[in-house]
Parts: sequence; C-alpha cells; structure tokens
Amino acid sequence: MQTRRYLVFLFPYLKKYKREYTILFFCIGIGMLLNLAIAWFFQNMTNNLLGGTNDGLVLFLVLGISIIIVMMLTNYINTFYVAKTTSLVKNDIRIKMFNHMIEFPMSFFDSNHSGEIQSRIQQDTEQLDGVLGHNIIQFVILPVSGIVAFVYLSFIHLPMSLIALTLGPLILLVSKMFGQTIRNNGVAIQNNLAKLTQQLQEALSGHMITKVLRLEHEISNKYIHKSEDVLNTQFKEARVSGVLQAISIGISYCSQIMIFAIGCFFVANGDLRVGDLFAFIVLSQSLITPFSNMGHLWSNLQRSLAAVVRIYDFLNITKDRFVIKNKVEQVPVAIEFKNVSFSYNDSKKVLIDVNLKIKPGERVAIIGESGSGKSTLLKVLLGLYHPTEGEVWLYPENKEATMVEGINPYTSYVPQDYFLFDDSIYQNIQYGELNATNDQIQYAANMANAHPFILDLPDQYNFRVGERGSKLSGGQRQRITLARAFIGNHSIVVLDEATSALDVQTEEFIIKHILELRKDHSLIMITHRLSTAMNFDRIILMDNGCLIASGTHTELLRTSDKYKKLFEHFLSTDSRPVDYPITGTGN
Ligand SMILES: Nc1ncnc2c1ncn2[C@@H]1O[C@H](COP(=O)(O)OP(=O)(O)OP(=O)(O)O)[C@@H](O)[C@H]1O
Ligand SMILES: [Mg+2]
Repeated sequence: MQTRRYLVFLFPYLKKYKREYTILFFCIGIGMLLNLAIAWFFQNMTNNLLGGTNDGLVLFLVLGISIIIVMMLTNYINTFYVAKTTSLVKNDIRIKMFNHMIEFPMSFFDSNHSGEIQSRIQQDTEQLDGVLGHNIIQFVILPVSGIVAFVYLSFIHLPMSLIALTLGPLILLVSKMFGQTIRNNGVAIQNNLAKLTQQLQEALSGHMITKVLRLEHEISNKYIHKSEDVLNTQFKEARVSGVLQAISIGISYCSQIMIFAIGCFFVANGDLRVGDLFAFIVLSQSLITPFSNMGHLWSNLQRSLAAVVRIYDFLNITKDRFVIKNKVEQVPVAIEFKNVSFSYNDSKKVLIDVNLKIKPGERVAIIGESGSGKSTLLKVLLGLYHPTEGEVWLYPENKEATMVEGINPYTSYVPQDYFLFDDSIYQNIQYGELNATNDQIQYAANMANAHPFILDLPDQYNFRVGERGSKLSGGQRQRITLARAFIGNHSIVVLDEATSALDVQTEEFIIKHILELRKDHSLIMITHRLSTAMNFDRIILMDNGCLIASGTHTELLRTSDKYKKLFEHFLSTDSRPVDYPITGTGN
C-alpha cells in the first residue's frame, strides 16, 4: 500500500516524458519479438538441417545476421533512452527539491543540518535509478517476454512449457521474504550517508578552528566512525543481496538443467525434434529470467524505494507561508508589534508580550544583554519567524493598515551573522537590487565606506570574495554586506550589530551617511555600543525577552534603573560619546 503511494508520487514525473518512454517501450517490444525470432531461427535451421536439407541455409544466415543488426540497433536506442529518461526525471526531482528547500521556514534550518539536507537532494535522487530506469522497465518487460515465450513454446510442446515454469514462483517467494530487510537497510544506508556528509561539511566549515585547537585527530576519528557506519550497513546489504542472488541463480540453473534433461528424454522418445529443444533452450531463458532476475530487481527496487520515501517526506515538509515575490512600492511606513510573544521550540519564550510602535523616519536603537532576544525581535519583525502570539502591523503612508507576516519587503536588513556568496564583490552588492546599475552599486559601496578598499583589491569590483567572503577581512565583509543592504533603498533600515566589526570612525561615517542620505527612512539598530545608542531618537532596552524600557537617553536615565546602571558602567569604562546626533523625522 505504502509502495503504491510512493510510486503514484513518481507518476507525474514519468508522465512528463511519455514520448521518451513510448520510444523505449516500442524498442523493448521489438526486442522481445527479436528474441522470438532468434528462437525461431535456431529451431527451424536445426530442424531443416537435421531433416537432411540445406536449401535455405544462406537465407537463414542472412536472416540471422539481419536479426542481430536490428537487435544491436534497438539495444542502442534502449540503453540511450533509459539513461536519458532516468537522468531527466532525476534532474526534475532534484530541482523540485531544491526549490522546495529554498522556501523552508527558518525553523527547519535550525533543526536540520545542512549536510543532511544536501545529502537528501544530491544523493537520494541518485538512488532513484531502481524505480525509474532499467530496473523498473525490466519489471514490466520480463513478465511480458516470459508470457510471450511461454505461448510460443506451448505451441511446440505444452507439457514441456509447463515443466519449464515450475521452479520460477519459488524465486518470487524468496525475493518477497528478503524485500523488507533490503528496504530497511537501504534507508539505514541513506541515513548514514547523510550523517557522513554532515560530518564532512562540519569539518570543512570548521577547518580553521580544527587547526587552531589542534583537533585534527578527533575530527578525523569522528569521520572514520561515521564512515564505518556506512560501511557496516553496506556490508549488511551486500550479504542480504548476495544470498538472494545466489538462491535465485541456483533455482534458475536447476530449472535449465531440468528443461534440458526432460527435453532430451522427449527427443529420445520422438516427442520433440532437436530444433524444438533448441528453441526451448533459447527461450527457457526468457521464461525463467522474470523469476531469477526478480531477486536482483527486487533488491534494487527496495533500495531505491528507500530513497523515494526520503524524497517524498522531504517534499511534504510544509514551506514557509511567508514568501516575498513582488517588489513593493517604497513608502514611509510605521510598524507595530502588538502583544508579540515568540518561542523557537515551544519550551522557553524568547519574546514575551512585546508592544512596540516605530514611526516612519524614526531612529531606534535596541540594546540589552547578550541572549535577551534582540536579534529574535528583528527576525520576527522581518517575518523570518512568526509570532507564537500577537501580531505585527504595518501602516504605509496613505494606505490602509494591515496585519502582516513581516516587514521584509520594506526593509534593508543586515543580520548579525552576515553572509557573502562566493562571487564577485559587484555581484554580492547587486544581490540587494538585481536591476542596480554600476553607478548605484558604486553609490551603495561609498555609503558603506567600502569603495576605497574595493579599489585597492586586485580585480576591484570583480574581485571574487571566496567562500563566505573568506578572502576579505571581517570589517570589509561587513561593509560589503552593508552596501548590499543600502542598494535596495528601502523605507526601513534594520541593522543587527552590523557595524560591530568596524572601528568607531568607520561606524560614525556609515551612520552619518544613512542619516544624511536616507532622511525619511526609519533606522532600527541593535548595538552594544552605548555611545552610539544614546544619540538615537529612542532607545529600547530588552531584558530576558521583555521590552523593559523605551525612550530617549535622557528619559531613560530618569525612568529606568537598569539603563542608568548601564550608563554609569559605560561612563566608568568608555566615556567617549559619538559626535553626531542620531535623530530622524520620526521625532
Ligand atoms: N535558532 C534558534 N533556535 C533556538 N533558540 C534560539 C535560536 N536563536 C536564538 N535562540 C535563543 O533565543 C535567545 C535570544 O537570542 P537572540 O539571538 O535573540 O539574543 P540577542 O539579544 O540578539 O543576543 P546577542 O546580543 O548575543 O546577539 C537565546 O537564549 C538563544 O539561545
Ligand atoms: Mg543578537
């Protein structure tokens, strides 16, 4: 029942290539007829020759060679089309999985390792051969050719044909017995391979820390253990498949010997001609192969079904309901959090009943201890995560207020853990606005104070930044990320410690530019630098998921003990205030 469900899931993919599959089945049909033709050829040539006439020998030979040539041709088309259709379907499923994955909710990526996801998309699709290609075709073809052979042989000698069939079902029974074990093992192999990929990926992304902490031996051991797990499940599969194959082959040979012995007996009794026995020997292969090959085909099918199960489950993971496709008109917007609570995994609330309204053009700094929920607040605001309770509202100027999944379409956002693609600087900035011109890219780079260092790079804007931007310094990477955010010219700029890797002067330079060039834009910025925060229109203080204070620097000094303490601590350590006012039109 389950198997049928999984095969039904594959059906639309196969249907798409019905032309290719039709050609394939046509060739296979011809191949079947040619098989009969070969049997007919041996049967009649032998009977003719043994009947004392060699009149048609030349004609027989010409016929035989023609059959072989057509056979070669159909075999070529067959092999090519099997490979082609299988690759096409695998390609479609791979792309479908990738596109599905790209829209998964953030929570999925939090709880699934990227190595595991990678393995599902790349390795599981490769395992589909067993249900798509040669294997599944053989499942259809072998029984049909068996029936055709049986009909042909039964016209020659019915009792012999029935005897030839007797041992076949035994092989089927044995295959069925092994099926579930093989499939379970197939799932185990795929799971272990996924864990191995996960280990490899971890080792690659953590290669520097491995060196620094001299963990080469430990990391290598972990990989070896995971690799051994793969090996053990593969050994187990080899054993089970081997036993199944051996039993199938054994029964198949027994059957052939039986046909030959009984055939000789009938020939000796004059019930069968020698040529007919030849036809039996040739076609007995087609009779018994459906059964003898069943074991092998069955194990391939089960292994492949294990991959189908994983792919099916993957494609049934619910995508995030919040997908932004259309560019929105950029107008000043106010935003509001109404009683928003949020938890990542239903255990602990990371945001607790947050109420917050930010006016268009307002400059808001968010401060608070590490782990107090600042980044989470911004992620929920953007719609990367959805509130478990409460609502996010949007008030675009001159438009109706709406409750939204998030404000992402109106936002230039630089996350705390910024990321660069292994591409040119130009391309990395352009990802912020795909239609951006050269001038716009340069303008954004200037705004992020990145232009001067870009000019010093070997290929300037064409400089390839390496994996995650590894060929740039931390501050340079951060500035490219900022330029990418600025190019979008969105109404709200959201920065999550986006200047943490920069020196104070560079931070000043960048914030000054945002303030001057984006006068009516709102700016929401998480910062640990009180010197920066105290000049904003408003400071929001987070503590243990709660918004505990909100107001200007002066107001908070009056109203919040916690803020006052933070400020006193700041004065005792670093009393240099920034020399620019961070106020916007929201005041
Ligand atoms: N993806 C996640 N899954 C589960 N818990 C998370 C996740 N991200 C953050 N948390 C938890 O949520 C809490 C708040 O994290 P958050 O990143 O919002 O803190 P923060 O105030 O931005 O801290 P920091 O100043 O260190 O960046 C922390 O306890 C953290 O462990
Ligand atoms: Mg944070």
